[in-house]
Amino acid sequence: MEKRVIGQTGIEVSAISLGCWPMGGDYWGGADDEESIRTIHKALELGINFLDTAPAYGRGHSEEVVGRALAGRRHEAVISTKASGAGHAEEDLRKKLAGSLERLQTDYVDVYFIHWPSREEPLAPTMEALEKLRAEGLIRAIGVSNFDVSMLEMASRHGRVDILQPPYNLIWRFIEEDVLPYCVEHGIGISTYSSLAQGLLTGTIRLNTRYAPGDMRPRSVLWKSENLGKCLYTVERLRAVAKELGVTLAQLSLRWLVSQPGVTTALVGARTVAEISENAGTFGWEMPEQAMRQVQEISDELYRSFPYYYDMWENWMTWQKRGPQREF
Ligand SMILES: NC(=O)c1ccc[n+]([C@@H]2O[C@H](COP(=O)([O-])OP(=O)(O)OC[C@H]3O[C@@H](n4cnc5c(N)ncnc54)[C@H](OP(=O)(O)O)[C@@H]3O)[C@@H](O)[C@H]2O)c1
Repeated sequence: MEKRVIGQTGIEVSAISLGCWPMGGDYWGGADDEESIRTIHKALELGINFLDTAPAYGRGHSEEVVGRALAGRRHEAVISTKASGAGHAEEDLRKKLAGSLERLQTDYVDVYFIHWPSREEPLAPTMEALEKLRAEGLIRAIGVSNFDVSMLEMASRHGRVDILQPPYNLIWRFIEEDVLPYCVEHGIGISTYSSLAQGLLTGTIRLNTRYAPGDMRPRSVLWKSENLGKCLYTVERLRAVAKELGVTLAQLSLRWLVSQPGVTTALVGARTVAEISENAGTFGWEMPEQAMRQVQEISDELYRSFPYYYDMWENWMTWQKRGPQREF
């Protein structure tokens, strides 16, 4: 498995990483803890050393499962978790981190992310507190998620942002406009989320797919009636390219993603041994230039047809109603 370094931290992570949101049991229609643990162990065995979780995933359950899986072998993994919700002043942040450390059964977190930017609170105290936590060895790197360029600039005035976690995949490419170039220019690593477009780029979703109770994906922007049909048409065209190369659609999609300049690692929300094994097959085969161009063209055609969306759930729309961004 190819390894890459996060920003200026010296922390080495695999180019494919494991997203542990589905292991929380919410949003994705339930979880099997024992299979989640086997998936984590398989990931480590395959050289996938970077695990991403958050207290928001199953109200701490995802962190607990990661903690159980890594008991006695913490040193084999790089763990990222997040401060969720609003209110990231020092005292609050310390409390949130302490909860994560307990659930993860560890005394440090490798990457600590701000999960979503808060429109109502200043970034300065948050970044200053994160730098203190880094100096104390409680965290090794500072990450931000779902930040745009203005927020990245504001955060960077008060500390060193090491890595950004944005949505990015063959269907959802909005970060290419400004966020991605900004990160490349400033040496900020990128850990892409929804790298398989919430499963669309695995080819398992159809127009008539019946979702498990609790599977909330149909609420996402990509499942809107005006988007799903054209996404699935694109998926079929990509599937044909993958077939020619003798790889799966997921492997083709991930290979394109980790080949984009600026991408450090692609997070994949796999939750079975079979899925993580397939995703590890992103490497170990040749990707001819012509196939890469073909994939790019197919993706461009879809991407150009999308209106601008800030995020996959249109949270931004709700925030905008609260008023314009304030300078902190
Ligand atoms: N910072 C943020 O705001 C944020 C937001 C979203 C996600 N994330 C992080 O990013 C991670 C990944 O993103 P994501 O979960 O949104 O989406 P994703 O990785 O694009 O897709 C996850 C889906 O892909 C399916 N899958 C994965 N590998 C597969 C394979 N080889 N074959 C078939 N299906 C496969 C899973 O299927 P099954 O359901 O059938 O198992 C799951 O439904 C999350 O787990 C989380 O850690 C962060």
